[in-house]
Amino acid sequence: MSQEEKAPRILKISILRFDPHDPDDFPHMETFEVEEAIGMTLFVALNEIREHHDNSLKFDFVCRAGICGSCSMLVNGKPTLACRTLTKKLDAHITLAPLPLFELIGDLSIYTGKWMRGLNERLETWIHNKSNELQVDRLEERMEPALADEIYELDRCVECGCCVAGCGTIQMRENFVGAVGLNKVARYHLDPRDKRTDEEFYEMIGDEDGVFGCMTLLGCEDVCPKDLPLQSKIAYLRRMMLKNAL
Ligand code: SF4
Ligand code: F3S
Ligand code: FES
Repeated sequence: MSQEEKAPRILKISILRFDPHDPDDFPHMETFEVEEAIGMTLFVALNEIREHHDNSLKFDFVCRAGICGSCSMLVNGKPTLACRTLTKKLDAHITLAPLPLFELIGDLSIYTGKWMRGLNERLETWIHNKSNELQVDRLEERMEPALADEIYELDRCVECGCCVAGCGTIQMRENFVGAVGLNKVARYHLDPRDKRTDEEFYEMIGDEDGVFGCMTLLGCEDVCPKDLPLQSKIAYLRRMMLKNAL
């Protein structure tokens, strides 16, 4: 009998529910049953629950294609994007919880945007060309295609926060910039249009809240849904920092 001809599985989806704005609420698990459909993702399953069981369930989705980074959550304890998670890859009993460390809006909905905005402001994640001139009529500097590809690869970060939730260091050191922050710094350090000096980058992340705080726990790279080369970029920054420290 093919997979399609078998009776569909009944999924039991246990969700950590909590409304931090309701003083009478407390964190608790609620379990919903959903009939599995072919090609079902957790996005579809959660919509089924909201439409047929409880319309107060909070969760975030925008693109449904792994691009916006808004649907990150703990799936069976592992940070990942729910819209890219097929239920057929999971056992019939699935546990969902919000990513830790980020401000909780309610249930599975978290405020990653606030954390990421703070990070981007702190690391000044934009090109610093050190010129006050308007550059509208100037051609961009040429860049080697291989370098452009390398920068593009790092720009694929969708700020989902999975690497933050998967990093033990951030649990102990709340100002640690995490793999997402180090990835961004590596991206701008590589970019020849950014005229910040090594010393300026060192000032920004040459301490334990930056590159020297990373304890090489490797959780970040394991959970990054965009498969970014986080380890090699952290090693790249370390080499650059050590050179400047000597
Ligand atoms: Fe998400 Fe990967 Fe970016 Fe971290 S580095 S925020 S896991 S896409
Ligand atoms: Fe954390 Fe990744 Fe370093 S999990 S400790 S940022 S290797
Ligand atoms: Fe956009 Fe999942 S909904 S990444």
